Order: sequence, then C-alpha cells, then structure tokens
Amino acid sequence: MAKKKIKNILVTGSVGQIGSELTMALREKYGAGNVVAAGNRSKPSDALKNSGPFEWADVTDIMQIVDVVRRYKIDTIVNMSALLSAVGEKNPQLCWDVNINGLINTLEVARIFELNQVLCPSSIAVWGDGAPLENTPQETVLKPKTMYGVTKVAGELLCDYYVRRYGVDARGLRYPGIISAETLPGGGTTDYAVWIYYKAVEENKYQCFVREDTRLPMMYMPDCLKATIDLMEADFKKLKHHGDFNLGAMSFSAGQLAANIKKHIPEFTATYVPDDRQKIADSWPSSVDDSAARKEWGWNPSYDLDAMTKDMLAKLQKRFKKGKLYG
Ligand code: SER
Repeated sequence: MAKKKIKNILVTGSVGQIGSELTMALREKYGAGNVVAAGNRSKPSDALKNSGPFEWADVTDIMQIVDVVRRYKIDTIVNMSALLSAVGEKNPQLCWDVNINGLINTLEVARIFELNQVLCPSSIAVWGDGAPLENTPQETVLKPKTMYGVTKVAGELLCDYYVRRYGVDARGLRYPGIISAETLPGGGTTDYAVWIYYKAVEENKYQCFVREDTRLPMMYMPDCLKATIDLMEADFKKLKHHGDFNLGAMSFSAGQLAANIKKHIPEFTATYVPDDRQKIADSWPSSVDDSAARKEWGWNPSYDLDAMTKDMLAKLQKRFKKGKLYG
C-alpha cells in the first residue's frame, strides 16, 4: 500500500533505459491511459508513443511538470530523468541541474498539489571514499567521486527531508548497474555490461572499457521493474528508510561476464582497454547488503548471471536475425 491509492502516474525520463520499460510495465498494471510518459530530448519509440499518452516536459522547468500534472490529474510521479555517471562527468553543471533541480521540482509539485507519491531512483554511485566495497551496508559513509554520485546523495537527502518536513511520500532505491535488451543505456559506467551482449551477438567480440577483474553489482531489467513497482506499492507505514534503499541481485567481474557469454557463443572474445570510466568503477562497491529492502518491503531478486545471459542472448539473437538488433 502506498500512502494513498496510485491511479494516475507520470514517468519523467520515460525515453531512457529504465523509464521506457518501466512505463510499459506500469501501463500494463495501471491501465495504458493512466500512465503518462514524459520525455525531453530523445525521441520516444513507437511502442512508447503509441501505447499511451506521451508529453514533452523538461523537469528543470517546474511549470512544465505542473501543466502535465494538472491536465492528467497525476497523483504519482516517477522521476527517471537523470544524467548518468560518465556523461555527468562531461557536463557536471547540467548533471546537477537535471538531477537535483529536476528532483526538487517534482517534490515541490508533490507538496503543493498533495500528490500521493514521488519515486526517485538513487544508485551505487552514492559510495566512494571510506565505504566498505564488499557487502556495502545500508548505513555507511557517502563520499562519492562523481557529480552523478553527489546528486544522488543529495537527492536521497532531499527525499528524506520532504518526508520528514512535509509528510510527502517520497521513495527511492540504489540501483546497481541495470542490464536490459530493449533500450540502450545512456552514458553510465556500467554500460559495458549491456554493450557486451549486443556486440557478442553482432560481432562475436567486444572491447571492454574496464579491466577484466572489475566487479560491480548488477541487476537484470525484470528485477529492476519488480523492485521499483514493489517499492511504489509498499505500505508507507512499514518503511523505516525512504529515499535510499540498498538493492542487490548479483555481482560479477567483466571477465566472468565474458566467460558466461562464451558458454553460449564459443567464438566470442573480449579484450579490455580501460578508459576514464575505470576510476569511477573502482570507486564503487562490488556487492551491497540489501537486507533493509528485504525486510521492509520484501525485496527478493529472481535473476542470476546464468538466467540473465540466457534471456538476453535469446532476445538479442532473435532481433539480430530480423536485422533489427538496435530496434
Ligand atoms: N548505471 C549507472 C551508471 O553507470 C549507475 O547508477 O552511471
């Protein structure tokens, strides 16, 4: 149970890797006409545009959010608009603007219009110096090295502030690297774990931008959707945490990922040429302790590396055969 009943949802950043699939999953569950997809720059896919309402809205302009909220009687906002870690390092000021001013705008709209809920994802990027890198606890030092991480820590604190100060129902979870077969990720450090599957299918080879021994927490999209929707629907009264739930599913190194793909595509080879993103990856944990999420709202992932690889390759190989690997 959310605080009140969820009826009309706005998903900002709906054209992105998570937003695009989350919008479709929410439309399935809450009715296509009740889930408004909003985008700002990138073109929506036909599936997204044709399956329900789509609006252009820039989260950094509060009046654009107000307009959509009023017209569609929105009661719940899922704020998926964000610049990710690698792209955020190229333009830190824009990263701050979208990730923080966009978030505070959605929280303000929730406060002023007394919406039911705002969900804003956080990330493993909240960690950096001083945090244990194995089984990283829920409560520990948050000293990120990237602007993206800075905005995610500040975003968690903002959500918690709005809960405490105004009674706004704000929730968030620290996504690991998300791997998916529908929409490509847009400029994160964990993107290699998606590209490796596309390139394995397309060219039987992949040049990875992190070292072979780089081990990070990862999650397959169906688990990401389940976690997000489960948290949205959790009973607000039972939550002790709000904006910052650790979330885990699996952890593997880039080398283990390549070896797992090789089981299905024996000709596949991976090479490793680390670039700037290596430093970011090295500042993030290898695995996280998500016992608070398990206890407070029953989190339990379904996919491990073997199951994910089987499913990813089946989906991508099917599209590749039709000449539509990239949609
Ligand atoms: N996938 C994100 C990134 O790599 C982490 O949240 O930036």
